[in-house]
Amino acid sequence: MPIINRVADLQPDIQAWRRDIHQHPELLYDVHRTAAFVAERLREFGCDEVATGLGRTGVVGVIKGRKPAGEGDLKVIGLRADMDALPIVEATDLPYASKNPGLMHACGHDGHTAMLLGAARYLAETRNFAGDAVVIFQPAEEGGAGAAAMIKDGLMDRFGIEQVYGMHNGPGLPVGSFAIRSGPLMAATDAIDIRIEGHGGHAARPHKCIDSILVGAQLITGLQSIVSRTIDPLDSAVLSICEFHAGNARNVIPQTAELRGTVRTLTAEVRGLVEKRVREVVAGVAQMTGAKIDLVYERGYPVTVNHASQTDIATKVAKEIAGDGNVHEMPPMMGAEDFSYMLEARPGAFIFCGNGNSAGLHHPAYNFDDEAIVFGTSYWVKLVENTLAA
Ligand code: NI
Repeated sequence: MPIINRVADLQPDIQAWRRDIHQHPELLYDVHRTAAFVAERLREFGCDEVATGLGRTGVVGVIKGRKPAGEGDLKVIGLRADMDALPIVEATDLPYASKNPGLMHACGHDGHTAMLLGAARYLAETRNFAGDAVVIFQPAEEGGAGAAAMIKDGLMDRFGIEQVYGMHNGPGLPVGSFAIRSGPLMAATDAIDIRIEGHGGHAARPHKCIDSILVGAQLITGLQSIVSRTIDPLDSAVLSICEFHAGNARNVIPQTAELRGTVRTLTAEVRGLVEKRVREVVAGVAQMTGAKIDLVYERGYPVTVNHASQTDIATKVAKEIAGDGNVHEMPPMMGAEDFSYMLEARPGAFIFCGNGNSAGLHHPAYNFDDEAIVFGTSYWVKLVENTLAA
């Protein structure tokens, strides 16, 4: 079965919502307008329950199928979209470009929100399933762990969610195709903050100083050896030091220096090993140089791990919508996604929906492709009708 006809009928409305949301991007948990827009639509559609304020500004809609789930059958599935935008100055000439200076929907969360609203409208209208479909609209995907905040507010237990599914658009993947894999899909992301306290002084008297720049250089070299010489070459890890601040005169050895960077890994084991080695390298360089080095190693989003049987379910649905040849098995990515928290809480799967030849995610010229709406929305409704078959 290709895209669903009724979804195609709804496309102009979904596109209009998407463009409205695009014009009004909001950051992290401050998605008040977007959340109000979502809640208003869900009430209009006749959802059986609309809950707001989960994880501060998250919104949840419950849609009951035309009959309850059978004894022993799956009863409730959750479908999740993200609502937040990014601090990027939009560089498109779109007639519906951002009206909020310095903010932009550069990751397509406008499209994700609109497609899930479209699915909610269809499901509330047709109710051709047994059990509950729970539509989840979360804030703060872009670094704020909004998914974790909603779970902490009782998302999974309050609505009885048994399985949970997520979707992201994929630039470079043709419109009308999907990509997915079982197991680790996206990386854990951790932050490194290092402050070096050396001993400043005259550039001509280095023997009286502890050169914080040289200490920083040794740290970078030592840290770079972790991926190349500690991690099994068949495992994946990225360690990037992306900031190095020190000094402001050519004849002064600076007292202090600061380094900041990020670590990306695909398994808990490798994640733990990299952290352990970062701590050892920092301690070793401090001992070798006599500098005082403070390290803050902060763990961010966990690895996004797709569960095997839910990946099979998602793949089957995507194939029904897009055709067998348009659903691809993808390699893991070293980017991160806070849907990882939902997949730690419940079995489920995260899928990519083709966004065609657009600029990349987080690029100022990026735009969500409205042609993808019928595919993403059809995927959502088919996923509900298949897993909660009436
Ligand atoms: Ni995103």
